[in-house]
Amino acid sequence: MNAPNKSGWKPEMQVAESGFVGGPATTTGNRALMLEEPLLFEIGRADVTGVDLPPVDASAPNRLGGLARSKAIGLVGLTEPETVRHYTRLSRQNYGIDLGFFPLGSCTMKHNPRLNEKVARLPGFADIHPLAPQSTVQGALEVVHQLGHWLCTLTGMPAVAMSPKAGAHGELCGILAIRAAHEARGDAREVVLVPESAHGTNPATAAFANYRVEDIPATPEGRVDVAALKARLGPDVAAVMITNPNTCGLFEKDFREIADAVHAAGGYVYCDGANFNAIVGKVRPGDLGVDAMHINLHKTFSTPHGGGGPGSGPVVLSEALAPYAPLPFIRQNAEGTFYLVEEEDREERGPTFGRMTAFHGQMGMFTRALTYMLSHGADGLKQVAEDAVLNANYILRSMEDILHAPFADSGPCMHEALFGDKDFGGDLSTLDVAKGLIDEGYHPMTVYFPLVVHGAMLVEPTETESKAAIDQFITAFRAVVERALAGDEALKQAPYYAPRRRLDETAAARKPKLAFEG
Ligand SMILES: Cc1ncc(COP(=O)(O)O)c(C=O)c1O
Repeated sequence: MNAPNKSGWKPEMQVAESGFVGGPATTTGNRALMLEEPLLFEIGRADVTGVDLPPVDASAPNRLGGLARSKAIGLVGLTEPETVRHYTRLSRQNYGIDLGFFPLGSCTMKHNPRLNEKVARLPGFADIHPLAPQSTVQGALEVVHQLGHWLCTLTGMPAVAMSPKAGAHGELCGILAIRAAHEARGDAREVVLVPESAHGTNPATAAFANYRVEDIPATPEGRVDVAALKARLGPDVAAVMITNPNTCGLFEKDFREIADAVHAAGGYVYCDGANFNAIVGKVRPGDLGVDAMHINLHKTFSTPHGGGGPGSGPVVLSEALAPYAPLPFIRQNAEGTFYLVEEEDREERGPTFGRMTAFHGQMGMFTRALTYMLSHGADGLKQVAEDAVLNANYILRSMEDILHAPFADSGPCMHEALFGDKDFGGDLSTLDVAKGLIDEGYHPMTVYFPLVVHGAMLVEPTETESKAAIDQFITAFRAVVERALAGDEALKQAPYYAPRRRLDETAAARKPKLAFEG
């Protein structure tokens, strides 16, 4: 018989705490085929190994010298099947887009077509070395070139830097190009203006690039306060960073007016284009006066993301900024051969500000994104935006009668719907609704972001969810919200049915325990 797991946790404990009278406790701590999993250190043994090594020949010369280990490394041993089971059990406790609806706003957790995966795994793309001679990787270079062409066409911009490896990395790339352009004309400026409705990475990027960040307020309807922005423009302002569609899920309809004013004041316009999935095929940011904009390939053009990566954040650039684009970039010569322009190509490289990465960017993301584009076609991508917006508006209008929707009167939302916790009863808040949704089998939406709304709940259904899936979510969401409105204190203890109850999230973030204390 299996011993109860050593961590001592049993699903019944949490159910008992909640006052739920369930079935009899199991001996093992497991519940049906859901298996609780202790830490490796709790199940491993020092005398076990998963591999068979030949005995050490005592007479063999020791070539390690002073580098020889003086004491045991302290790893625990498991057999191969034990190891496989450990990680498989843990993976079953993961929630992912292939498991269910994932309404995280701003994160665009949408289905990744399997075709993308098939293409990304082709050895000609997956197995190439970044230092392989360019003549041997022409196909891969062509993919990057063609993807860049699509990005320029879709955004109406003349140039693109492909190498940034995430959205925030792309922001830094764009801001460094802006800095280089200002410096080239001997006009060092110190301030970057960031509206309240911008994504949090925008002020972080500007500060990281050594600019002073100044906030521009949002209007009551959730958009940039144009009058306040114009009033702040001046010779010290290097750039404005605007997220469009913004984090309130709204299109910044005064963008052109803002861009004209920024240009007239000698500044540049950075657009955070991570939410491009709401407008792809419908709006070309180049027509709105954008100078630099990153696109999260890992959001707009599918490709898996989460857990810190991998991502890809190419940046499209205007004529004014294109000369400062980072190295390397791809060109095609008259014979049709693709080649990379590098540091030593002095004539072709222009006054570049430098480089963002050691090599050329994320090949796996490039192949997936281009596959997504080619399989949708131009009209299909337009449909992506329309469906993403339709689905978000369906959720907004299905919830607004019971849930505070601060910008419901500002017109249709874009790809995400924003709610607040204003009307909840007792001391219930957004966090309690998020935890209640876990019990209903849903990953929570993005919470407490954006900061402009009290107890914000940002819900992004994406275009890949069916009406049936969204209706099911709305039913669960409404049920949990109704409990919150009624001040149902039991919600404060949720989740009841997850492998773990409510964690101390502050302690987990501030005082993480990263090593096993046996
Ligand atoms: C609007 C917006 N800007 C920037 C980012 C940052 O992108 P990344 O996480 O790839 O750095 C995100 C992330 O999803 C985003 O939603």
